[in-house]
Amino acid sequence: MQDREGAGRPLDVAVIVGSTREGRIGADVARWFTERAAKRGDLLLDVIDLADYPDFPAVYPATPTDAMARFTSRIARADGFVIVTPEYNRSFPASLKQAIDYAYDEWHAKPVGYVAYGFDSRGLYAVEHLRCVFTELHAMSLRDSVGLHLVGESPGPSDERDDRAVTALLDQLVWWGLALREARARRPYTS
Ligand SMILES: Cc1cc2nc3c(=O)[nH]c(=O)nc-3n(C[C@H](O)[C@H](O)[C@H](O)COP(=O)(O)O)c2cc1C
Repeated sequence: MQDREGAGRPLDVAVIVGSTREGRIGADVARWFTERAAKRGDLLLDVIDLADYPDFPAVYPATPTDAMARFTSRIARADGFVIVTPEYNRSFPASLKQAIDYAYDEWHAKPVGYVAYGFDSRGLYAVEHLRCVFTELHAMSLRDSVGLHLVGESPGPSDERDDRAVTALLDQLVWWGLALREARARRPYTS
């Protein structure tokens, strides 16, 4: 049953694929994650692949382009986010920062989870940098993240630890997502 704030409705979750690199493994990692997330009945997934936005402008324009508006409207519709990100030089890729910066209010008072990948660091440095960015955007970063260890250049995330990490992340995302959706419906967020 749904109440005024839509508590009985599944959470709208945007899964953002951050790498646009030719030959990337990011799409495989996103597929691995969404296969698991799709098994749950409490989520509606919208996969936002930044590689589908090759027309993002190289120069930040005074007026948003159609591609920017299409992207930010998907961010606005979501109740929560999962960022799928590699680690590039101890941080996250420029393609992801470019997209994040196109939205502002649309991120506010919503939870963000991270599925990161890299070599020994398992993408942890990328996640820590993203936490700073999303604090500035008044978003709520989840405590737990998924960190996948690359073997060679393959995703290879198959062990039980990774599956448990996905469950923890999604449980926290749903808790915060429902709580903040209800809170936003009751009173506008002030920033
Ligand atoms: C520019 C660049 C910088 C990288 N820096 C790191 C790094 O600091 N730490 C790490 O673990 N892996 C690093 N890597 C390896 C990436 O984690 C690995 O190539 C991964 O496949 C990249 O994700 P993608 O294929 O989805 O683009 C780097 C890769 C690139 C292309």
